[in-house]
Amino acid sequence: MTAKTMGQLTFSTVEADAGLKAALAKSRADVIGEVSKSGLKGRGGAGFPTGVKWNLAAAATSSEKYIVCNADEGEPGTFKDRVILTDFADIVFEGMTIAAYAIGAMKGILYLRGEYTYLRKPLEDCLNQRRENNLLGEKVLGKDGFDFDIEIRLGSGAYICGEETALIESLEGQRGEPRNRPPFPVDTGFMGHPTVVNNVETLAWATCIMVKGADWFKGVGTEKSSGPKVFSVSGDCTNPGVFEFPLGITVAELLKQVGGEGAKAVQIGGASGRCIPAAQFDRAIAYEDIATGGSVIVFGADRDMLQVARNFMEFFVEESCGQCTPCREGNEKLLEGVEMLEEGCCPMAYLKELCALGETMQLASKCGLGQSSPNAFLSIVTNFQDEIMGRTEVIL
Ligand SMILES: Cc1cc2nc3c(=O)[nH]c(=O)nc-3n(C[C@H](O)[C@H](O)[C@H](O)COP(=O)(O)O)c2cc1C
Ligand code: SF4
Repeated sequence: MTAKTMGQLTFSTVEADAGLKAALAKSRADVIGEVSKSGLKGRGGAGFPTGVKWNLAAAATSSEKYIVCNADEGEPGTFKDRVILTDFADIVFEGMTIAAYAIGAMKGILYLRGEYTYLRKPLEDCLNQRRENNLLGEKVLGKDGFDFDIEIRLGSGAYICGEETALIESLEGQRGEPRNRPPFPVDTGFMGHPTVVNNVETLAWATCIMVKGADWFKGVGTEKSSGPKVFSVSGDCTNPGVFEFPLGITVAELLKQVGGEGAKAVQIGGASGRCIPAAQFDRAIAYEDIATGGSVIVFGADRDMLQVARNFMEFFVEESCGQCTPCREGNEKLLEGVEMLEEGCCPMAYLKELCALGETMQLASKCGLGQSSPNAFLSIVTNFQDEIMGRTEVIL
């Protein structure tokens, strides 16, 4: 079940519990200061600065606060969190404990993708072991006033439940639908209490930062995108698997490492990401250029790009929660557009209208699903115009 991990991930070099011990030796404010200084940005896709998020939750006044680890991992092409949880669960739970100490939370919840049910038992065993070693429970590692424990909850099987406010709704037993923001979860999250939702990988890096220091993390990557990043690579390459690369790596460099040099396109960021053509392979994978939660799907020379677009649009039509019109109707329209292109009966004027609709969805949808679902359609239609026109004889 485990994907191939290529090379050594930094997580395997970190001494057990060293991050938590280092954190507990600091004040809460200094822990957040170190994470802020590292420049760590959320590895779940949106790239929000982790130190800022923890600071906001720490500043919120409430007798109850929560740390939620987002292990829903529903983005097509993403499987890095599964590998991290399989091989480095302790480092993730350690990161949750560090975050809890920093913001003053007593309870953590791991929201585990429903399809990863098989991981529940080893994860529960890991938690029990941590309780025995006083890495969880009352007075964690003897620290007065710091009680913390973690519960595992299974995801509800919808992609939208990975969106942090839908995830919180789902945890509360409601249908997984995004909430209006503000208020943000750091103020009003799980059961109305301040809640930090972080990705699995983000929390694992927080542990490493406590062990190796903010300067080490900042020394990797680019100025605006610091640190290493874990990628799930799949598709038309000879070496698919889970890799760690520094942020800022170019698409071409990444392809060389994974044996995908002959690719004609790469989808970066999963279904909600962008399709990058070979002419742009010198671009950097970083928050300031091509941002990603870690999914890289390689398309070889023989791939039909309209089929790729259809595949992604079918996914979004299925996964839209239907709450807001731009996303509910827009995804249907874009899928219909792809079908028209495939049948060769899409007038150019209509294609332009569909592109305008896609841009409206990016602006007007309520949550990240609808805001990003047109990305693949728009980037494929723009970057592979010749292939699409040649094949479908678009009516001018
Ligand atoms: C439709 C949708 C699905 C998402 N799925 C996930 C997911 O599976 N895992 C994840 O960490 N973040 C996911 N996110 C992003 C979360 O809303 C949130 O930004 C993230 O968990 C915050 O953690 P981070 O700051 O550590 O990245 C998703 C967002 C959207 C809009
Ligand atoms: S953008 Fe889509 S998924 Fe998000 S709230 Fe609107 S309909 Fe639901």
